[in-house]
Amino acid sequence: MTASLTPRRDRIRRALELLRNETTDQFDDVVGFTAHEFVDPELAQRERDLIFGSVPSIVAHSSEIAHPYDFITVAMPRNNIIVVRQKDGGVKAFVNLCRHRGALLEKEEKGRCRFFSCPYHRWSYDPDGSLRMITRDNTFGTIERKKYGLVEIPCEERHGLVWVVDNAQAKIDVAAWLGPEMDEILAGYGIDKLVCARVGTFDEPTNWKIMQDAFLDGYHIQYAHPNTAGKVIHTNVMAFEDFGRHCRFIAPRKSIDRWLEEDPGDTPLDPYVTETHFLLPNSTLLRQPDHFQLLTFRPDQRDPAKSRMEMRLMVPTVEDSGLTEEHWNHLWDKNMDILISVLHDEDFPILRDSQRGMASADAGDMLLGRNEVANQVFRREIKKLLADGSVADGATVNS
Ligand code: FES
Ligand SMILES: [Fe+2]
Repeated sequence: MTASLTPRRDRIRRALELLRNETTDQFDDVVGFTAHEFVDPELAQRERDLIFGSVPSIVAHSSEIAHPYDFITVAMPRNNIIVVRQKDGGVKAFVNLCRHRGALLEKEEKGRCRFFSCPYHRWSYDPDGSLRMITRDNTFGTIERKKYGLVEIPCEERHGLVWVVDNAQAKIDVAAWLGPEMDEILAGYGIDKLVCARVGTFDEPTNWKIMQDAFLDGYHIQYAHPNTAGKVIHTNVMAFEDFGRHCRFIAPRKSIDRWLEEDPGDTPLDPYVTETHFLLPNSTLLRQPDHFQLLTFRPDQRDPAKSRMEMRLMVPTVEDSGLTEEHWNHLWDKNMDILISVLHDEDFPILRDSQRGMASADAGDMLLGRNEVANQVFRREIKKLLADGSVADGATVNS
């Protein structure tokens, strides 16, 4: 099914109009919230189960496990997993745990391997998860080997991204989860033709929702980033679309200012905007003029005050870019360095302190404004997932 999406040209024109009127798209109401949701261990457990154990979230770009037997390991909120490219080109995910006595099977964050070999007593498993060898099996005793393969976690590759539902009992259907609009949007981007040029991982002493919120926020830019992003992007101007689960907004860059007085006519205005997509439950996808940036936020397996952020630059290959390999590497190194220093110097200190603040016994209630559109969607949808435990049977909510 083809969704009826507003053409990008019209959305950019609308962003310019909002800028001219010094306003932004707005939600219906101001909403209140309390500090407990960032510190409560019981709620954190419900989030792990009802959000990450129920719906698909992104773990990698396809190019990170490009070849058969390439794997990555990921600490998901409920399970430590291995994601591995199969011989037939498909992808599978497994709990990263030996079925003998529970040793951690694969320690490396990424690699390529023909089979997984347990460090404890050297049982081994094939990349499709089946139990390959029991050491000294003449003495071990007879077991039904088929039952003791690695525990499989639902995993699917779509739009050049690898998704999992962190729950062995669940099913996965990424298209149904994305819905017709976001599925069509992602299909149009050709992210599967790009490569993941750089990955940054950041373990922060901050709740994952505080982290996610900061990267859906068009309101803080000139205040928290006066000398970096604040010089480049307009603050608090968002041409926003709500798809009911996911959303996106266009924000004008300052370079668009030349068109404030003058009518741009048919001039393409694409170079003068950035576009932010929120993919429920835990990703921000930024469309830049020449590449995509993907930010994901995962809660710790226990502590509500810890999370891991991953930042990926997904870019045209060296060949498609027309650059020399040296120039290409230099470009993306430089890009990554700038992004990381903004994170470390400007966002993370504020967010760490927010987390500390949330531990105050008398924090009082707090507010999310009508102008904080994508944050409103994030809050609304997380609440829905938590309220509606029935979604826990997986990403089949549309079927
Ligand atoms: S725990 Fe893995 S072989 Fe014993
Ligand atoms: Fe920021």
